[in-house]
Amino acid sequence: MCSGQRGDVKQILAEFGTPENLKDPRIRSLLFHLLRQWSLQQDHERDTAFLEDLHTRCNLAISGLVELHRTKNSSLGMAAHDLRNPLISIRGLAEILLSGAAGELSQGQREYLSIISSTSNGMLGLVNDLLDVSLMERGHMTLHRVMGSMKDLVEERIQVYSVIAGEKDIRLSARCDPIQDFLLDPVRLGQVMDNLLSNAVKFSPPGSLVNVFLEKEGNSARFTVVDRGAGIPPEDLERIFHEFQKSRTRPTAGEKSTGLGLAIARKIVEAHGGQISAHNGPREGAVFSFHIPFSQPV
Ligand SMILES: Nc1ncnc2c1ncn2[C@@H]1O[C@H](COP(=O)(O)OP(=O)(O)OP(=O)(O)O)[C@@H](O)[C@H]1O
Ligand SMILES: [Mg+2]
Repeated sequence: MCSGQRGDVKQILAEFGTPENLKDPRIRSLLFHLLRQWSLQQDHERDTAFLEDLHTRCNLAISGLVELHRTKNSSLGMAAHDLRNPLISIRGLAEILLSGAAGELSQGQREYLSIISSTSNGMLGLVNDLLDVSLMERGHMTLHRVMGSMKDLVEERIQVYSVIAGEKDIRLSARCDPIQDFLLDPVRLGQVMDNLLSNAVKFSPPGSLVNVFLEKEGNSARFTVVDRGAGIPPEDLERIFHEFQKSRTRPTAGEKSTGLGLAIARKIVEAHGGQISAHNGPREGAVFSFHIPFSQPV
């Protein structure tokens, strides 16, 4: 209430609150009612000022966090970018040495070089993932879409992953419906399939079966991977699509697990106008599935 109104209330009280008037119960109740309204109004003003202050502080905190997030992303991107070239050199040099181009190697030297080669390869994969996350977070992911066959893409990936799954005695079985060609980024969608297939193999027990389906669903193509592993705790089904988020399900043969693959997959699928999701199978195992519409926003 502004001071003018407060003055009005005081004036009214002084004018009408005489001992004589206060004897009249109707005037007493009227003045009491006026005082009560005035005090309520003051509480309301205090609350409004408090809420406005809170709102300003929240906004400041949010802009601080957004700025921090942006700085984190660009530092992450720069670090990943700067690590990439030296890692490529280390891996390349190890491979040249392993090929014998620089002279004969002893058994021991060969073993050490193989470790250097596979470790630098793994690190390069991680650095590439970090670079992807940083680019996507800053909205810098560009799709290179061409008319292509999702079926060919799936069959190609199944061929590669059958070999990897075979090492854990896991069998991949695929059923692909014929699907019309449509605009897609084969490299990026291949990356999504790689992560879903590698997860299915990583989190499945040796000797189990993984089913892969490619189906036409209305005006879109749906890719699904069903495994017989431990599945995903229901409370983690959403969370695992965010960066560095892992559930308590652990790889069955000590494979590496960074928690970046699904976050990258989600961004790629969404950039294609589709959606990715996970649920648990009716009896056991996880079911991961994404769909891509045939006609997508540019
Ligand atoms: N098929 C699956 N069965 C059970 N849990 C899974 C499965 N796929 C993913 N998860 C859970 O979701 C988490 C996130 O998966 P995501 O692919 O993002 O990361 P990751 O496989 O651990 O590492 P990477 O970055 O190498 O992909 C995993 O750590 C795992 O806990
Ligand atoms: Mg993964």
